[in-house]
Amino acid sequence: MTIDRMNELIRIINKASYEYNTLDNPTITDQEYDDYFMELLRIEEKHPEWKRDDSPTNRVGGEVINEFNKVTHEIPMLSFNDIFNEDEIISFTERIEKAVGHVDFTCEPKMDGLAVSLKYEKGKLVRGATRGDGVTGEDITHNVKTIKTIPFTLNEPIDIEVRGEIYMSKKSFDKINEERAKRGEKLLANPRNAAAGSVRQLDSKIAASRKLDCMIYYLPEAEKYGIHTQLESLEFMKKLGFQVNYKHNKLAHNVNDILNYVEEYTKLRDTLPYEIDGIVLKVNDLKMAEKLGYTVRTPKWGIAYKFPAKEVLTTIEEIKFTVGRTGQITPNAIFKPVHVAGSLISKATLHNEDYILDKDIKVGDVVSIRKAGDVIPEVVEVKKNRRTGREIPFQMITNCPICNSKLIKKDTAYYCVNPKCPAKKIETLIHYASRDAMNIEGFGDRVVEDFYNMGYLKDFPDFYNLGSYKEDLMELEGFGERSIQKLLDSIEASKQNSLERLLFGIGIRHVGAKTAKILAAYYKNIDNLINTDFDTLNNIKDIGFIIAESVVNYFDEENLKMIEKLKEYGLNMNYLGKVVEDELFKDKTFVLTGGLSSITRNEAKDLIESKGGKTSSSVSKKTDVVIVGENPGSKYEDAKKLNIKVWNEQEFLEKVGM
Ligand code: IVH
Repeated sequence: MTIDRMNELIRIINKASYEYNTLDNPTITDQEYDDYFMELLRIEEKHPEWKRDDSPTNRVGGEVINEFNKVTHEIPMLSFNDIFNEDEIISFTERIEKAVGHVDFTCEPKMDGLAVSLKYEKGKLVRGATRGDGVTGEDITHNVKTIKTIPFTLNEPIDIEVRGEIYMSKKSFDKINEERAKRGEKLLANPRNAAAGSVRQLDSKIAASRKLDCMIYYLPEAEKYGIHTQLESLEFMKKLGFQVNYKHNKLAHNVNDILNYVEEYTKLRDTLPYEIDGIVLKVNDLKMAEKLGYTVRTPKWGIAYKFPAKEVLTTIEEIKFTVGRTGQITPNAIFKPVHVAGSLISKATLHNEDYILDKDIKVGDVVSIRKAGDVIPEVVEVKKNRRTGREIPFQMITNCPICNSKLIKKDTAYYCVNPKCPAKKIETLIHYASRDAMNIEGFGDRVVEDFYNMGYLKDFPDFYNLGSYKEDLMELEGFGERSIQKLLDSIEASKQNSLERLLFGIGIRHVGAKTAKILAAYYKNIDNLINTDFDTLNNIKDIGFIIAESVVNYFDEENLKMIEKLKEYGLNMNYLGKVVEDELFKDKTFVLTGGLSSITRNEAKDLIESKGGKTSSSVSKKTDVVIVGENPGSKYEDAKKLNIKVWNEQEFLEKVGM
């Protein structure tokens, strides 16, 4: 047992691990590896004073942090604009050619995980950080150290920062879910969420158990190392010991090469051992890339092509009914879990009885599933030629699945009208806390349901009294002081919300987020609204008699008592809305579709409104501009069909001067 032997073992194990994990080319057997590892563990146990920071035994995790420290990215961590079809690929290459002449492009699989920055000093790993908002990320070094494809020590003792993607292989994902299923735990939705969730853990044992991986794809200051092209960057980073995608990154000399690559990888995608959600294109020549430069938030020298939504076949095992907050009954198809466009899904809404009868959906049917707008799962069609005759015809229920009261049919939908139905109450509370309503973070379905069932949360004012049960709540399984404090903090913060959030949150029938805003802006405080009458309401622009009636009826004795209680708890009941700053978008109607990356949807709406514009949820001839984010839905198609102006996130931000 000598220090030399320990150093030798570290060398042997690191080499074997690199060959196995990074090169996918093992040179020793698992048994030999385990023997070396055990020997190293024994030496370190006997001589803790010899233990090195870069010992592979540190990969098993164990380091626990109290909170995530903030990290400033000296070179901002940007991401590319997204595009969705061939035409946009062609326009992208044309735009570049026009600006700098002919160039080659690298085509790279777009790894579906989360971006990471890795910093090394004198060849030693010193920091791993998430992207965050691009300028400020979070320090995740303790978790990064558990990832075997991230070297502790590079093959050269240099200072360097590289960027890549932390991801979970399909195999690890399936294995983890198999184990979770056995333990009766909730399944992880998709490898990306699983990876992101793992690095967001304070205890690095969890990340270690999740078997994450890391693919490196970008060297921010390549010229410092005498590098001239993206391909050379990749080669250089590979030599340093990183995993780069040398098998699948390719050079394209023209747009045809790119289109062929995209076609090939659209087909190949399912055979890869990890999820990819598109293809990243980068100008290979770094001088040319530099010349093309950056817009405010994205490099002009690259782009991310996103794959279209996919359809997958599965079998419907059951049709399950849920009760919404209005009492509306929704049938849902429960099917064998399938991967669709990167996530594991096992249910889809079937909307109502007519929808099911129209599509002729039966339990036992083989159906095709897709994610509409790449987000919401839907049943596309029944594969009638796969029927065996054993399928069970659909039968609408007559009583509430939760409280058993008789259902009432109104138009196409059935309702549970029992005001005391627990399912309705829970949905009402979930809605109250939801992002667009009171935005009380942490109160998702599970927490609200648990707190309701345990009697802590029966009505809206109970949120504000949870603090008095703090000690009891901390004892609940899955909670601790920190998580309960977090819930209490977000409850406290929500007290300052502007009136429209409360009006939307309390669930007045027919009052959506938009109507709530109109009412709040008009009445300025809740007392004015309570004291108004039907005619005044009915005369407000965009408020019809159905809403007017519903608002007047809402403020009955019981609800007025509830509002009084909220007041006693110190809730703001005034409209704090934005004043119109300028009239850049005066009388213009905008529709937002897809995910925005640098601002939230609500911030975008506020921005539009602060410039005199309006937002709408559907595209029509009256729409002036459709703002398209990541994975846009059918609204993007509608905009193209109707020839409506389309801006991407970048263009929108430029217009508003951000
Ligand atoms: S390069 C300046 N290469 O997809 C942007 N990104 O916008 C440098 N991604 O969020 C990123 N695979 O996290 C690059 N081969 C690849 C990638 C990749 C996945 C992610 C990245 C970013 C987005 C691209």
